Amino acid sequence: MNVLGIESSCDETSAAVVRDGATILSNIVASQNEVHEKYGGVVPELASRSHVENIIPVITAALEEAHLTLNDIDGIAVTQGPGLIGSLLVGLSVAKAIAYTTGLPLVGVNHVEGHISAVFLNRDDVAFPFIALVVSGGHTSLFEAKSAGDYPLIGQTRDDAAGEAFDKIAKFLRLGYPGGIIIDRLSTLGNRDAFSFPRPWLPDTPLDFSFSGLKTAVITTIRKMNRELTPAEINDVAAAFQEAVVDVLVKKAFLALEERNIGKLAVSGGVASNNRLREKLREAAAARGVSLYIPPPSLCTDNAAMIAAAGTPYLKKGIRSSLEMDAYSRMPR
Ligand SMILES: Nc1ncnc2c1ncn2[C@@H]1O[C@H](COP(=O)(O)OP(=O)(O)OP(=O)(O)O)[C@@H](O)[C@H]1O
Ligand SMILES: [Mg+2]
Repeated sequence: MNVLGIESSCDETSAAVVRDGATILSNIVASQNEVHEKYGGVVPELASRSHVENIIPVITAALEEAHLTLNDIDGIAVTQGPGLIGSLLVGLSVAKAIAYTTGLPLVGVNHVEGHISAVFLNRDDVAFPFIALVVSGGHTSLFEAKSAGDYPLIGQTRDDAAGEAFDKIAKFLRLGYPGGIIIDRLSTLGNRDAFSFPRPWLPDTPLDFSFSGLKTAVITTIRKMNRELTPAEINDVAAAFQEAVVDVLVKKAFLALEERNIGKLAVSGGVASNNRLREKLREAAAARGVSLYIPPPSLCTDNAAMIAAAGTPYLKKGIRSSLEMDAYSRMPR
């Protein structure tokens, strides 16, 4: 089954063709970083306009790279939410138009389920059940993945997402946008023990996360210094902050494995491309005999291949979304 995936929930316009939910035939991503860089964050109206400009060329390129035409496609999977409404509507409208004119089956996909499904891409050894940690710009969530599409939520952030914390600290340090990848790079030059930042463990709900206190602690520490930081000090702050986030993510993911008595862990979402997180996850997995599934960095950040992978089991079961389906901005409860 060849599925055309379409993703436009935030600031990446992406289209992909994926065979049988796993083999990537193409995965085109048009990033809008240049559009939003000077504002230090995503400007929703500019994102929507950029999606309108990019969506058709991106879909055309995805079909071309797969050496296929719409006649070879068996179904369409499109991100329905959560995300920016104006952005989502661009991908959703185009997906509906293609489904309407070709008669192809269409399914709306939850973007976070897309991030989980990135682990199935280009490999065939991922088996249920597993614990899925999604760490992205808008989500820090733990799921118990029981079978395709059956992913009950078992923990989530009470405030900031991990990626959001990376971006806010980077903005505060005036490092540029998007911040996660810059902090990742600077951290390699810094001393992660130079500062001791808090780890929010939340003993009452230990599978939940909270990063706003950590963010405040970093900002307060810098304000108290009451002077410009040297480049070396900035590297140290980056490294110590990153270490606190990574420490919490790793410990809680392994706590979930223990609690549910599961030996397989999948980690995805933009922050899963963080080098220190990958390193600590690998160490912990090796020490405890846990199978670790982490997609390559290009599949951790937003892309349409993961949306096609998430939609495929539904399309295979004959589940369809109607052309009346609406975009949604937040996770449905
Ligand atoms: N190497 C890295 N280290 C840490 N964070 C990173 C790294 N690379 C990207 N990120 C962070 O990942 C986030 C982007 O990831 P992603 O594209 O999955 O999120 P999103 O789609 O904006 O959010 P969501 O999926 O929750 O709607 C940003 O916050 C970015 O700073
Ligand atoms: Mg995302």
